[in-house]
Amino acid sequence: MLIEWDASFETGDQKNDDEHKYIICRLNEIWAQIGHDNDHDDMEKWILEYCNYYIRHFHSEEDLMVRAKYPDYQVHKLRHLAIIECFDSILIRLDVVKSILRDEVRGLVLTISDHMKNEDRRLARFVREHPPTR
Ligand SMILES: [Fe+2]
Ligand SMILES: [Fe+2]
Repeated sequence: MLIEWDASFETGDQKNDDEHKYIICRLNEIWAQIGHDNDHDDMEKWILEYCNYYIRHFHSEEDLMVRAKYPDYQVHKLRHLAIIECFDSILIRLDVVKSILRDEVRGLVLTISDHMKNEDRRLARFVREHPPTR
């Protein structure tokens, strides 16, 4: 588990606390999936879903701050933007990893097919012409 809910997270606002609990729970789920043999597309989907939930959560907090005329609204909102930028950066890196993996798999496919078409066929031809004695 990456992060665990405890009393230090409590805001006293039930709706907000429930959303924060959900956010922590989903974060632990995503963390648990990292390192497993997951498809990068799945990972991207989970992170996007998570990020979208987070953005909705931010909107609800920001709406509350506006309605309550919260004096630190601008600073708090900037912190939200910084968190969204972290998500963007993870998604961009995931895209880079995916494209590197695709290139490497393409290279592997070329190497394998080249080996089968050339060395393995040459070996087979040789064996046909010079059958092994045992
Ligand atoms: Fe929040
Ligand atoms: Fe917030």
